[in-house]
Amino acid sequence: MNVLVSIDGRIVPAAEATVSVLDRGFLYGDSVFEVFRTYGGVPFAMDPHLERLARSAARTLIELPVPLDVFRSETLALLAAAAQRESLVRIMVSRGSAQTLGLDPSLARGPVRVTLAVELSELPDELYERGATVITYPTQRIADATSAAGAKLANYLVAVLAMRDAKARGAEEALVLNGSGEVAEGCTSNVFLVQAGVLVTPPGSMGILLGITREHVLDLAGQAGIAVEERPFSVADLVRAEEAFITSSIREIVPIVGVDGTVIGSGKPGPITRRLIALFRQRTRGA
Ligand code: PDD
Repeated sequence: MNVLVSIDGRIVPAAEATVSVLDRGFLYGDSVFEVFRTYGGVPFAMDPHLERLARSAARTLIELPVPLDVFRSETLALLAAAAQRESLVRIMVSRGSAQTLGLDPSLARGPVRVTLAVELSELPDELYERGATVITYPTQRIADATSAAGAKLANYLVAVLAMRDAKARGAEEALVLNGSGEVAEGCTSNVFLVQAGVLVTPPGSMGILLGITREHVLDLAGQAGIAVEERPFSVADLVRAEEAFITSSIREIVPIVGVDGTVIGSGKPGPITRRLIALFRQRTRGA
């Protein structure tokens, strides 16, 4: 894996990039982050990602060490230094190092900012043509009932365990269900289905991460005259859906053709999904 790192604005190779063992990101997962990618070497939707980083930090009472403009210029400098075809950019801000062990956030000193530019390996075309399968994973995430609901927190342990189950069952993604059995989102994606020709996706009020790709898909659907509803849906709705797909900055729009071993729709990526994939590619690649 080709990775170049910026720590507090200093660019170093990954092997020389170090963070203290007392860093609260390491000790408690006490950090927030963003992930986005480049197209033609240029970051896509960097500003909305940086604004979401600021919102995640505000919700978790982590102070951003520098203004968003500095994150922007440091990211561009890192990408220029990395000089690779396409990059995945991961920006992390931890609350800083513990002066002494203890959860109290006032014990933290010096928030640390780390940005990775990882050489992007795109998913195979075949995945978009054939579609992926998912499993459902009933749980409640720890931050859901707190002011941090919907923030992009580093603590992805539930998602890590859910992905282990997904892989063990030959699936590409696990969809997290909330306490009422409604489908909330994927481990690292948002979820959509098509029901009676209407595109449906869970609402922000469910404490999901409001994906930037989700926003683009809602916008593209609106422009294309596809009816859209933001409302909760159940696993039964998903099983009976005409089409389904997941979205994320890295995976873009991936058709979902099966859930928990049951085929969705025709078992192939549906027409609305394919149309949105084409429109999203046009928007990101001009292709
Ligand atoms: N994850 N929901 C969760 C829980 C996510 O982690 C992500 C993204 C999304 C989609 O958001 P966006 O469209 O803004 O990428 C939804 C990133 C890609 C990751 O962790 O790699």
